[in-house]
Amino acid sequence: RKPVIIDCDPGHDDAIALLLAFANDKLDVKAVTTVAGNQTIEKTFNNALKVLSFAGINTVVSKGAEKPLLRDLITAPEVHGDSGLDGPELPPPNFKPSSKNAVETIMEVINESNEKITIIPTGPLTNIATVLLSNPEIKAKIERIVLMGGSMIGGNWTPAAEFNILVDPEAASIVFNSGVPITMCGLDVTHKAQIYKEEVEEIRNIGNKVAIMVAELLDFYGKFHERFGFKGMPLHDPVAVAYVIDPTIVTTQSFYVEIEIKGEFTNGCTVVDYYYVLKKPKNVEVVLDIDRERFIKMLYDAMRKYN
Ligand code: BDR
Ligand code: CA
Repeated sequence: RKPVIIDCDPGHDDAIALLLAFANDKLDVKAVTTVAGNQTIEKTFNNALKVLSFAGINTVVSKGAEKPLLRDLITAPEVHGDSGLDGPELPPPNFKPSSKNAVETIMEVINESNEKITIIPTGPLTNIATVLLSNPEIKAKIERIVLMGGSMIGGNWTPAAEFNILVDPEAASIVFNSGVPITMCGLDVTHKAQIYKEEVEEIRNIGNKVAIMVAELLDFYGKFHERFGFKGMPLHDPVAVAYVIDPTIVTTQSFYVEIEIKGEFTNGCTVVDYYYVLKKPKNVEVVLDIDRERFIKMLYDAMRKYN
């Protein structure tokens, strides 16, 4: 099983990404770390604990950065509600979080592992950048960073920027320039990874309490995306987990990618050298497409595991 750390800001799609990861026997989730993004750190941290508790998963959960490296926090209540996870009523968590912070936990997991660790960030990259900056020697023990964020064409929070990168572009710049192998699951692929309403009903009909909770999460999350004119709703964060479970589910191409941190209109843009104009070494594997049917099936299979 592949040892992974999930660094997230739950968040509806983050919550589903967690549930997908824990249900799949190809992955060994060593820890869940949280970051401020979709909501404040107190909320994303509590949401992670609540979702995992509800699903009967007791694991290492650590609280991370409360704000981006240099900027004020931007949150996304339009998408995820005031709690960051509006929709289902979840009871309070039933297990205790780690007393270590996210950076300490990430360091500990990596240092204690005999195998290289894959990190799956599904929120702003603040925690990951802090780890890489403060402990550069750790890079050699990271297999790959498979992140949800960015896009080749068009943003969802500004015309140029995707939310996770926009929230902490300096952190993203540190991660993308770190030399660690990076896979970017951006909007180019995640907007193709949509789940349709009838598929949400399939999940509800699986009938266990976790599947029903996921359907309720998607009922809420779908309301925002109706306005985008999508047929369904993009399951952004689960794409990164799906890639690590089975890379054959996606197609990718490598490019040189920089993060815009000084732009007037383009802050947080992932600038992809599509035509190899700069002739710089390709630092990012960009995910371009996904087999949507297989992806949804992977999600169904995961939900059935919670019986
Ligand atoms: C990303 O932003 C967040 O709202 C989602 O959880 C996802 O990680 C999509 O742009
Ligand atoms: Ca997220």
